[in-house]
Amino acid sequence: MSRKRIVAGNWKMNTTLEEAHALASEVARGAGEEVDLVLIPPTCFLATVLDATASSAVSVGAQNMHPAASGAFTGETSGPMLTSLGAQYVVCGHSERRHVFGESSAFIGEKVSAAHANGLIPILCVGETLEDREAGRTDAVVLDQLEAGLQGLESSQIPGTVIAYEPVWAIGTGRTASPEQAQEVHASIRARLAERFGGEIAGRVRIQYGGSVKPGNAAELLGQPDIDGALVGGASLVASSFLAIADA
Ligand code: PGA
Repeated sequence: MSRKRIVAGNWKMNTTLEEAHALASEVARGAGEEVDLVLIPPTCFLATVLDATASSAVSVGAQNMHPAASGAFTGETSGPMLTSLGAQYVVCGHSERRHVFGESSAFIGEKVSAAHANGLIPILCVGETLEDREAGRTDAVVLDQLEAGLQGLESSQIPGTVIAYEPVWAIGTGRTASPEQAQEVHASIRARLAERFGGEIAGRVRIQYGGSVKPGNAAELLGQPDIDGALVGGASLVASSFLAIADA
């Protein structure tokens, strides 16, 4: 089954307006078409990044959204807002949303459904903490997050959902999962998708790895059979290293 690779750069809460424009422009200039490249800037810079990447192969996504279409949710951003800007992707359930902002798996599942309802491609993040891993709970935690995240979806929406496996202990720590450790979890995720939705659908789902992906380790990670791309944090803030990961 051939799946087009997808490399996404999650800028988190970084960049100013000028920096966002410059970084997006540089990525757009260097972007090829063999890999789906997605930039995920802070919400307030989505318009400028969309503008800077308009005539390139680069897609743009948001780091988060609220499941409601509109209403009294001060500080939040809705699916219709993102769609009206021209965003194509939205990250749902990044570990920082789960662990720093206390978002539950059920709430994240609502976001994933709302993303589809608004024509956005959700990137559903799942991942265990170091404590979970050391207690032998990696698969249980990751697969629970997966099930809750996909709960509201029809089978037909599964291939259009991107999963990102991001072990919490590898995010921003410089400590990457080994290719074997990552592949093992990716295979469990795909096996669960096959159990629930059938092998044909599971074979079409793209599963990214995230957590300290750098130009130097990307090729080995992306060489694993069930790793279909990367969700890159720190290294996506430098255009040359983000592009080098895409090249790998
Ligand atoms: P990192 O972040 O590449 O800086 O570890 C990855 C992520 O949080 O998506």
